[in-house]
Formats: sequence, structure tokens, C-alpha cells
Amino acid sequence: MNSKRLIIGLGQLAAAVTLLGATALASAQPGDVSQGAALFATHCAECHSMKEGKNKKGPSLFATFGAKAAQREGFAYSDALRNSQLVWNAETLSRYIANPKATVAGGKMKYEGLATASERNDLIAYLAHPVQ
Ligand code: HEC
Repeated sequence: MNSKRLIIGLGQLAAAVTLLGATALASAQPGDVSQGAALFATHCAECHSMKEGKNKKGPSLFATFGAKAAQREGFAYSDALRNSQLVWNAETLSRYIANPKATVAGGKMKYEGLATASERNDLIAYLAHPVQ
């Protein structure tokens, strides 16, 4: 191996290590996207779509992961969610899905909550990386 190739190789190795580190930090236990899709179909699809702009009883959840709460156009959010200052990440989504009424008092998501943490984790993996 000449020295130029060695340097490129080391650069790739460093990038791979950085990526692995970031993934490990983002979630100690990565959720299962296909389990999440099945949970979404059972628990959420009555009111939510992952399609951009498709609001049902609840707002479209397209690109909601990573976004501020209550930003979808054409959906009449509660004042409570609008004023919540929430940003949807793994931690806030897990709290909200576990107990919407306690997380956003006065909100209008009529869902009793998903008690099992591993199921919430799978669902959040799907919200972050939907498979269409
Ligand atoms: C019975 C209908 C219903 C079900 C079932 C339901 N939701 Fe909702 N959801 C809503 C409504 C209505 C809102 C708007 C709440 C508000 O304005 O206070 C909402 C809001 C949300 C938001 C915030 C969206 C934004 O734009 O800020 C997320 C995230 C969310 N729901 C996720 C879920 C997930 C995940 C499930 C399944 C575990 C689920 N919801 C089940 C009706 C529902």
C-alpha cells in the first residue's frame, strides 16, 4: 500500500468510527423499524399518515422526527401543543407516546398511551426512518 492509499484508508476508518460512535450515542438500543411500522399500523394509522401533507384526525407525521411540535399546515392543533415548545426527538416522543395527556396537558390527541418502552423505541425508529 503506498502512503496516499494508507491515508485515504485511515480517513475512511476514522469516518466509520465516528459514525458508529454517533449511532451508539443516539440510541443505546436502536429500535426495529419493521416492528415500528406494524405498531404504527395498529396504534396510530387510524389518525396519522406518514405521507407528506396528509392530515387525518391527527396531523401528518411526515418529517415530524426532529421538527418542532405543531408545524404542519392545514391542521388545527390545540393551543396546548402549539404553545408546548416541544421539539420531537427520541426522548420527547417517548414521553408523549407513553402518555399524551400528561405530556401535553390540554392537548387533543385522544390516545391512551403505549406503556411498553421497547415498543415505543421501535415506533420512534419507524417515525425517524419510515419504510413506505
Ligand atoms: C384518536 C386519534 C389519534 C391516535 C390513535 C394517535 N394520535 Fe397522535 N395526534 C392526534 C391528534 C388529534 C394530534 C394533535 C394534538 C394536539 O393538537 O394537541 C396528534 C398529534 C401527534 C403528534 C404531534 C405532531 C406535531 O405535528 O407536532 C405526534 C408526534 C403524534 N401525534 C404521534 C402519534 C403516534 C406515534 C401515535 C400512535 C402510537 C398516535 N399519535 C396516535 C390524534 C391521534
